[in-house]
Amino acid sequence: MHKKASIPALQCLGVSRVFRTPDGEVTAVNRVSLSVQVGEFVCLMGPSGSGKTTLLYCLSGLDLPDAGVVMVAGKLFYDAAQRSRFGEDHLAESRMACLGFVFQTYHLLGSLTATENVMVPIRLTGTGRKEARERARELLEEVDLSHRYDHFPHQLSGGEQQRVAVARALANRPRVLLADEPTGSLDFQNGLRVVRLLRELSNRHQTAVVMVTHIEGHREFADRLITMQAGELTAGGGETRC
Ligand SMILES: Nc1ncnc2c1ncn2[C@@H]1O[C@H](COP(=O)(O)OP(=O)(O)O)[C@@H](O)[C@H]1O
Ligand SMILES: [Mg+2]
Repeated sequence: MHKKASIPALQCLGVSRVFRTPDGEVTAVNRVSLSVQVGEFVCLMGPSGSGKTTLLYCLSGLDLPDAGVVMVAGKLFYDAAQRSRFGEDHLAESRMACLGFVFQTYHLLGSLTATENVMVPIRLTGTGRKEARERARELLEEVDLSHRYDHFPHQLSGGEQQRVAVARALANRPRVLLADEPTGSLDFQNGLRVVRLLRELSNRHQTAVVMVTHIEGHREFADRLITMQAGELTAGGGETRC
């Protein structure tokens, strides 16, 4: 496949995020441009406080950049210069359709079973209960949890909970998966299992992945390494033509 010729799964151009605090302004992300190809697996590394989480949030619409443009699969996802065009509802809908997010601390709903947690985003797209349940179970099977369909989060190990979170993030077959230190709450072996799984699923479904990690050993799973320092990309941003 000629990856360079195809439309990138994710692109951002000149993305900045400035926090106003009592002590003054903090430029958490400073004019970052980045391009991730279809099915590409990218590791994002950098010291604590370098802006990795803020960048991922801005790419996903969980936070909004103060400047810059984000494109998903060639379509405009957010443009800070036209912010009034991108209301909460619009962003929530686009996010649901084309992006998945995995957090360090799982964020599962404690009162719902594994299957029900994965059903949530599927149901939110208007899919009926029966079909959503079937799809949720297929997804749980993909993350090796077919023996845990009806377990609640507190009955699952950390690694299992994170695999449910991965299944949930992939529930609507997003083009892009953003993962913020998905192994940060796990021991090394369970963390490795989650990363290996993300890599496999990325290959199988051609999902572009941007994964923040502190662990050097995770680099071997990535097609590319991007590094950040003080809000700026210091290496690996890739092509940025829109
Ligand atoms: N909500 C916020 N308000 C003020 N400053 C913030 C906020 N979120 C992050 N920051 C600051 O932005 C910078 C980048 O933070 P973050 O994106 O969390 O970095 P990383 O994920 O690389 O550790 C840090 O200086 C942090 O203190
Ligand atoms: Mg962080």
